[in-house]
Amino acid sequence: MTSNNPDPQERFPFGKNWQEFLNVLTESHITEAQNSLSKFLGQANLDGKKFLDIGSGSGLHSLVARRMGASVHAFDYDTQSVACTRELKRRFYPQDASWNIEQGSILDRQYLETLGTFDISYAWGVLHHTGVLWQALYNAQLVLRPGGLLFIAIYNDQGLISALWKIIKRTYCSGAPGRWLMTGIFFPLFFISGLLIDLLHLRNPARRYHEHKKYRGMSLLVDWRDWLGGYPYEPAEPQRIISFYQNLGFELLHFEPTGHGFGNNQFLFRKIESAG
Ligand SMILES: C[S@@+](CC[C@H](N)C(=O)[O-])C[C@H]1O[C@@H](n2cnc3c(N)ncnc32)[C@H](O)[C@@H]1O
Repeated sequence: MTSNNPDPQERFPFGKNWQEFLNVLTESHITEAQNSLSKFLGQANLDGKKFLDIGSGSGLHSLVARRMGASVHAFDYDTQSVACTRELKRRFYPQDASWNIEQGSILDRQYLETLGTFDISYAWGVLHHTGVLWQALYNAQLVLRPGGLLFIAIYNDQGLISALWKIIKRTYCSGAPGRWLMTGIFFPLFFISGLLIDLLHLRNPARRYHEHKKYRGMSLLVDWRDWLGGYPYEPAEPQRIISFYQNLGFELLHFEPTGHGFGNNQFLFRKIESAG
């Protein structure tokens, strides 16, 4: 596989984190993930559709796309993420010929050319972790047929604040001491700030952990680690993403800004039929 991804020493081991997630995954996580995917796409049924899951991570969204009727091709750069996606297939769709899983990189044009075209290209929280965001954004649309949908989520750029997070994430990925230091500082901070917010709003603090699955079927502790370590990290202002795809012949169908300043902005684009 040819790839331009940065030195693995400086990458967050996403797949290791996803393996922890598979240990806590329940049917209600899957239901919430399916609800959020169908809501954003504006369709509950993907019968006969070809769905490309770029950077499949745990494999949860490949699983829900398959449940919604799509045939799915999933790939991820991280071998442990690939193993997680394969594990979900083993649990729910063993022997299924309509769900393929491979190791691959969105930066690898030769690999993408072997895949054919898709009705939906899905890259949620992936392209800003490649180290070459704009190349990855470009490549993610190459696989679409005219009229196809592109669903992406990209971290919001907050200027100086994002620059500080980049340093924190890079320190986390620099080795065990950096990881322990950042975890020791930020996990208590995340916990205490959440607790204070809940107490101020007279909410049960335990609910935040239980109810986080409503956010795309995710787990709060897994998301904290993913956020703290998620490096490479290249956030972008939403308008830059929108203009980028409009210039490539896409129309914006749906935009959901992040609820927190630092989170993911979500975009649904359609490749205009006449576009090349
Ligand atoms: C934050 S996770 C998101 C996983 C999944 N899309 C989701 O929504 O839960 C980012 C994933 O992107 C993968 N990734 C990073 N660089 C990649 C690349 N160049 N090509 C494909 N996947 C990549 C990581 O290995 C990781 O599994």
